[in-house]
Amino acid sequence: MKSTKFSKNLWHDHYSQKAQKEGYPARSVYKLQEIQKKFKILSKNDHILDLGCAPGSWLIYAASLTGLKGEVVGIDLKSLKIKLPAKARFIQGDIFDLPLEAKELLNRKFDVVLSDMAPFSSGNQFTDGVRSFQLCTEALALSEKVLKPGGHFICKIFQGEDFKLFSDMIKEQFKQLHIFKPKSSRKASREIFTIGKNRR
Ligand SMILES: C[S@@+](CC[C@H](N)C(=O)[O-])C[C@H]1O[C@@H](n2cnc3c(N)ncnc32)[C@H](O)[C@@H]1O
Repeated sequence: MKSTKFSKNLWHDHYSQKAQKEGYPARSVYKLQEIQKKFKILSKNDHILDLGCAPGSWLIYAASLTGLKGEVVGIDLKSLKIKLPAKARFIQGDIFDLPLEAKELLNRKFDVVLSDMAPFSSGNQFTDGVRSFQLCTEALALSEKVLKPGGHFICKIFQGEDFKLFSDMIKEQFKQLHIFKPKSSRKASREIFTIGKNRR
């Protein structure tokens, strides 16, 4: 069926309303839920770093899976308005210029690094693709420092010129690479998720 403005709105309403009903601030949570269902990335007691965590849906969902012995640390440019789950921490800051509090994280080890970071839309597909790639390479560089061997990495990227290069970078660092487009992600959106499993 051809996607119309009406069908797009229906899609938007379905996931947004579901999120509201289930207590999530954004419908993006369903993308992570689909990834989790298929690839089993998050486990009980995990320590998880959530890059670009605002408004907080992934953070709430991840914290619900890790339990009280795990922890989720979220970082975002924007402030968080949700009530933080127990065992979750939030640091406001820019991934390219981490505040001191976040720099201390680099001495710690995590089981999973998530990045749902997205650049502010410039309206230009090429520019947005380049900026998305920059966010992704920064997320991967950070994961190189903090991820345990055997750890996992999930990263959203806008498919652009550098998509293949980024996939190859993940392949070098992880034993398995998966590329996944969740059903809850709009077909028209260029976003796609790269999943690196089992860090070498
Ligand atoms: C799609 S939203 C993330 C949604 C989130 N996963 C959720 O489920 O609520 C993308 C986020 O990336 C953040 N972001 C973009 N550039 C960033 C940067 N340089 N440093 C930190 N966060 C950034 C934005 O502020 C925005 O909140």
